[in-house]
Order: sequence, then structure tokens, then C-alpha cells
Amino acid sequence: MGWPKLNTVRSVVGVPLLIDERALGALFIDSHSRPGAFAPDDVRLLQSLASQVAVAIENARLFEQVRAGGEQLRELAGYLQTAREDERTAIAREIHDELGQALTALKIDLAWLAKRLFDEQDELKDKATGMSQLIDDTIQIVRRMSTEMRPGLLDDLGLAAAVEWQAQEFSERMGMACELHLDEDDLLLDRDPATALFRILQEALTNVARHAQASQVRVDLEGRADEVVLVVQDNGVGITPEQIADRHSLGLIGMRERARFWGGQVTFEGAAGRGTAVTARMPQTRAPEGCQ
Ligand SMILES: Nc1ncnc2c1ncn2[C@@H]1O[C@H](COP(=O)(O)OP(=O)(O)OP(=O)(O)O)[C@@H](O)[C@H]1O
Ligand SMILES: [Mg+2]
Repeated sequence: MGWPKLNTVRSVVGVPLLIDERALGALFIDSHSRPGAFAPDDVRLLQSLASQVAVAIENARLFEQVRAGGEQLRELAGYLQTAREDERTAIAREIHDELGQALTALKIDLAWLAKRLFDEQDELKDKATGMSQLIDDTIQIVRRMSTEMRPGLLDDLGLAAAVEWQAQEFSERMGMACELHLDEDDLLLDRDPATALFRILQEALTNVARHAQASQVRVDLEGRADEVVLVVQDNGVGITPEQIADRHSLGLIGMRERARFWGGQVTFEGAAGRGTAVTARMPQTRAPEGCQ
């Protein structure tokens, strides 16, 4: 459709596109047949049309603003997660290496001192034994703190090993059976999306411990087609649709957002008295071994 030639226009009416007395533009109609072609009714019709067009344009603009704002927030949340994860890795390493080594050195020096005590210095020997025991306990605490902050397994041996460790740890700590079905082939995730999936597993297991009143939990992890799928299924009370939809369920929102940042998704399903299933899907980010 071409523009009409202006010199053939015989009558024209224009009305502004107004939002809160702010003009977004104007709407014109013209006639090529005769002068004075438009009656007051036509103008009123054009005005009502213009007000609807103005609202539609403003809505589209606001919608775009909200969408872009949401996108920015998601980017920021993703950046903060990664920064937090890097920080945890650094602190975990420092606690493990620096503190761990200092405590080990202390233990060796203490043993050196204890060896130099005379047989009759029983009181001092007992004291040294007690101190040595305390150092051992502290080394264990330091190791646990470091692992909880960032399981080194995740960096050293990968997702499958970390998931295995987490399932065992959960089972021991909670005294709850944790059945693990792990297919190690095709878990083709880079470090950051693998960390996201691991944190989703931790949050899902924490929820089982805190809310499910379950007697057992099953964890499935496998690579299928183009994605890695994690399912955490318990046999407890079952999450409700209201709890899933609640905007205060920050743990659930966190799981969804972590996955979403890497192009994945998390879904929740609950059946009253029959348990809850959390399913996380992440698109694979690495090519299989041997492929370029
Ligand atoms: N496995 C589960 N079984 C039964 N209910 C669950 C389960 N997981 C979550 N819920 C319900 O969903 C709610 C929301 O979970 P969400 O993880 O968002 O919050 P939370 O665990 O209460 O707190 P936090 O923010 O510390 O995670 C829980 O309060 C609980 O009522
Ligand atoms: Mg939670």
C-alpha cells in the first residue's frame, strides 16, 4: 500500500493519541472525495479509536519495560549466584588448605613435645593426649565445614560423584533410606550448570528432611537426549498446588530460577499422602567425549 498523494487530499481530521495528557502521536484520516467529508460523529469515533490505540501502545510499552526489567533481574540473580559460588569455592579451599594444614602442623608439634615428656609426667601426658584429640576433632569439623560450603568432589570428580556423596550424606545424617539411580553417561554439563543442578538437589533434599515426613527418598540422575534430568522423589505427605504456587516459597523459586538461568526448568508434583517429586531438567552444555 502506497501513501496517498497529498495534493489529492480534500479533507483531513487528526486527533492526538493521549496518555495522561501526554501525546504519544496522532491519528489522521483523510478523504480524497470532497472537502468537509467528516461529520462531528466521525471525529468522535476517531477520538474514541485514538484513546484505545493510545492505551494499547502504552500497555505494549509498559509490558516491554516490565519484561526487560525481569530479564535484567534474572541476569543479576544469575551473576550473584555464580559470584557466590566462586566465593564459596575460594573460602572452602582456604579453610581446607590453610586451616587444615595449620592444625596438622600443630598436631605434629604436640606429638613431638609429648614424646619428650618423662614417664612420671602423667598429668602433662594426659593433657597432651586430650589436646591431640581436640585437634583431631577440629580437623574433622574443618573438613566438614569446607565440604558443606563447596563439595570439592564437584570440582575434582564431577556431578555424579558429588550427587553420590550428597545422597549418602543425607541418608546417614537423616537416618532415612536414600535410593540412588545414577547413569553416569551423558551427564554433559559444564561446571556452573552442574553446580546449579547440585544446589537444586541439596534444596530438594533439605525440603524432604524439613517438610515431607517421608521414610524414603529416591534420587535419579541421567543424561537423556539433549538434557540432564534429576528427579528427587519422596514418599511423604505431598506438596500442595497452593504451596507450589505460593510466591513466598522462596526455596522453590530459587530452584526454578537456578535452572532457568541455564535454559532449564524445575517442576514440582505432589500427591496427598503419596509424596512429592521434584524434576529438574538442564540442557546439556558439553559435547560428548570424542566429538568436536
Ligand atoms: N518434599 C516436600 N514435601 C512436602 N512439602 C514440601 C516439600 N517441599 C516443599 N514443601 C512445601 O513447600 C513449601 C515451600 O518450600 P520452600 O523450599 O520454598 O520453602 P521452605 O523450605 O519452607 O523455606 P526455605 O526458603 O528455607 O527453603 C514448604 O514450606 C513446604 O510446605
Ligand atoms: Mg526449602
